[in-house]
Amino acid sequence: MPAAPLFDLSDTRVVITGGTKGIGFGIASVFVQAGARVAVAGRSQTGVDAAVASLEELAGPEEPGRVVGFTVDVADPESCRDLAASATNLLGGIDVLCANAGIFPQAELDTMTPAQLDEVLDTNVKGTIYAVQACLPALQESGRGRVVMTSSITGPITGYPGWSHYGASKAAQLGFMRTAAIELAKHTITVNAVLPGNVESAGLEEMGEQYLASMTSAVPLRRLGRAEEIGFAAAFLASREAAFITGQTIVVDGGQTLPESPDAVA
Ligand SMILES: NC(=O)c1ccc[n+]([C@@H]2O[C@H](COP(=O)([O-])OP(=O)(O)OC[C@H]3O[C@@H](n4cnc5c(N)ncnc54)[C@H](OP(=O)(O)O)[C@@H]3O)[C@@H](O)[C@H]2O)c1
Repeated sequence: MPAAPLFDLSDTRVVITGGTKGIGFGIASVFVQAGARVAVAGRSQTGVDAAVASLEELAGPEEPGRVVGFTVDVADPESCRDLAASATNLLGGIDVLCANAGIFPQAELDTMTPAQLDEVLDTNVKGTIYAVQACLPALQESGRGRVVMTSSITGPITGYPGWSHYGASKAAQLGFMRTAAIELAKHTITVNAVLPGNVESAGLEEMGEQYLASMTSAVPLRRLGRAEEIGFAAAFLASREAAFITGQTIVVDGGQTLPESPDAVA
């Protein structure tokens, strides 16, 4: 039998939380183009339907059912278990979980309410952990399970006013990752994270023109990231060739975290 082509994802079953738009949709589109079977999940049914329709177009008509979609609230463990059961059923198993769903509302520390803090931690931290727990039996069953989380440069490396709770949540994901990677190694499951810089997405556009312009000028490569570029890093971490990488991070930020001062960006 001929060896599988390098970086072949064609028989891979992938679940992407927050896969209905922005970075998650970019990740989904990369896996679909690489021939994987993909389940995208988000809170809004309309969002799920629109994402599945667009991804089906990318997948082409040859293999109907290669893309499926579900609603989920990752902050609710039962909803995560429903997602894992439905995806396992329709995809025939789960090899890769991209725990990507996340929110980034702004709140300054001096006026942040407990409800605002809870919302961010519940979605970004607990939501990541609940999604991993729910998919664990299927990932174990896969024999080559992968968890790829979407963290951020904000928190693990940088800070930005209004995002102390968000930064804490994105750094917490990495704390979770390091112990999860050790615990799950016995099941041959790897756990890694991609740390995007500023990536074009609906969520980021809400920050306004001025924010987008100032971020672009802070990036040595002089542009914002594209959602698919986070997908390329996720696809690498999900590939067989990345089987010996666990508990690690890949920064995808166009060099934004490198300059020591604004003057250093030529
Ligand atoms: N954009 C950036 O520059 C950037 C940079 C670094 C890291 N990130 C990280 O990348 C991830 C995606 O961000 P994005 O910019 O692509 O955001 P986005 O465009 O706002 O998309 C967020 C996605 O997550 C889903 N979602 C939100 N809360 C959810 C919940 N409780 N349960 C299930 N799904 C939920 C949304 O579904 P609904 O629309 O149905 O709610 C949507 O599919 C986040 O983890 C974020 O922290 C983004």
